[in-house]
Amino acid sequence: MDRFLINGGKKLNGTVHISGSKNAALPILVATLLTDEKCVLRRVPNLRDVRTTLKILEYLGKKITYQNNTVTVEANGTLKNNLPYELVKQMRASFWVAGPLLTRFKQADIPLPGGCAIGVRPVDIHLKGFEKLGAVCDVKAGNVLLRAQRLQPAQIILRFPSVGATQNLLMCACLIPGETILENTAKEPEVDDVIAFLNKMGADIHTDDKGRLIVHGQTVLHGAEHTVVADRIETGSFVLAAAATRGDVTVADCVPEHNAILLSDLREAGFTLDVTDTSVHVHAYNGEIKPVRVRTAPYPGFATDLQAPWMTLMTLCTGTAEIDEDIFENRFMHAPELVRMGANIYTEKSVARVTGVQKLSAAHVQASDLRGGFALVMAGLCADGKTEVERIYHIDRGYENLEQKLTALGANIRRYNPDKDEF
Ligand code: EPZ
Repeated sequence: MDRFLINGGKKLNGTVHISGSKNAALPILVATLLTDEKCVLRRVPNLRDVRTTLKILEYLGKKITYQNNTVTVEANGTLKNNLPYELVKQMRASFWVAGPLLTRFKQADIPLPGGCAIGVRPVDIHLKGFEKLGAVCDVKAGNVLLRAQRLQPAQIILRFPSVGATQNLLMCACLIPGETILENTAKEPEVDDVIAFLNKMGADIHTDDKGRLIVHGQTVLHGAEHTVVADRIETGSFVLAAAATRGDVTVADCVPEHNAILLSDLREAGFTLDVTDTSVHVHAYNGEIKPVRVRTAPYPGFATDLQAPWMTLMTLCTGTAEIDEDIFENRFMHAPELVRMGANIYTEKSVARVTGVQKLSAAHVQASDLRGGFALVMAGLCADGKTEVERIYHIDRGYENLEQKLTALGANIRRYNPDKDEF
């Protein structure tokens, strides 16, 4: 399996161009199941999870082309309404095909997605919503069997603003004639991008003055073209890597307002940032990194996906910073690996206390999940000497051309496979 070899201690310098958002591209690709007409999606990042989603669409019966970050999805005969475990176990987000298949075919058989390293990740909010819309949900032998004689519009209050459940229920409701109201929904920018695409397909979704999503269901949806929004988690990841290496980096082709709270916290930590509508310039800063407490929360709160990279920055602060991970129950797996690199971190349940050290030290570490893996790469960039990061298949899920982008910023990083390559 591939690894990253990083010769750290260099400041990042230059400009990095952000790719399209993984967490918008995946649900938007799934939304193409709602029509038999041709859809064209641009700025789709070339990631493992995207390739898995394209495999799922092909399995279900779509004809796919994918070139230069542009995906074309076309009908290719009738769609299946079930997915094999082989595909769902690779990526939980495959469960989001349930909404489109249920609303079009009044049935869907989808394996219950397992948990992952960061938590159990149940789908109860999705299933309760489908039941409110008139479906019968049975879970048998690890599969979710959804059946509906007739789906009807409903008023649904989500017990938690789940991103996936919001998107799954939206895709289901937009083909149920009548008015469906979704309350306490996720407000993440990726959800807005899915709504923008669905409305281009002819859906009628808007937010009312109480912040509820109002869906006027249609009888058919059409093909559409769409360019995926910039990836705010990749943006935040590179901003934090620039800051932690004391570098001078412009993060371009992004949407800074989607990272408002991160940028505010970074300024509080002592960094100078110049922000335009489409870029963030992190100025080189050699002063003390002040400890800043963060609590992860649904958008616009501090993104749980940036908690791990933020922790790496705080390992170099002057003092002790507290991090509360309030979204996932097991999202500190990067902490013990950072401790192996000389960090001073104490975790208890959902709280991590990070006491800053002068320098991190290079070590051989392994990634347990996507964002924790990036946090370890960041630590390797900061530490003098050779850091080796194993299990980078986690990282390949969500960062397009990571080593190329970092090399262009002056980092010394290369990918190698000990089973194949010379050391
Ligand atoms: C999306 O996952 C993202 N993935 C995650 O990004 C992100 O961390 C998460 O939203 C939160 O922002 C994609 O968009 C593909 P949730 P999702 O449903 O939709 C609980 C990354 O690194 N919950 O908002 O699965 C759940 O267990 C990935 O790119 C229920 O209890 O997240 C979690 O504790 C990691 N029941 C919390 O809600 C449900 O039915 C948030 O989950 C659904 C969720």
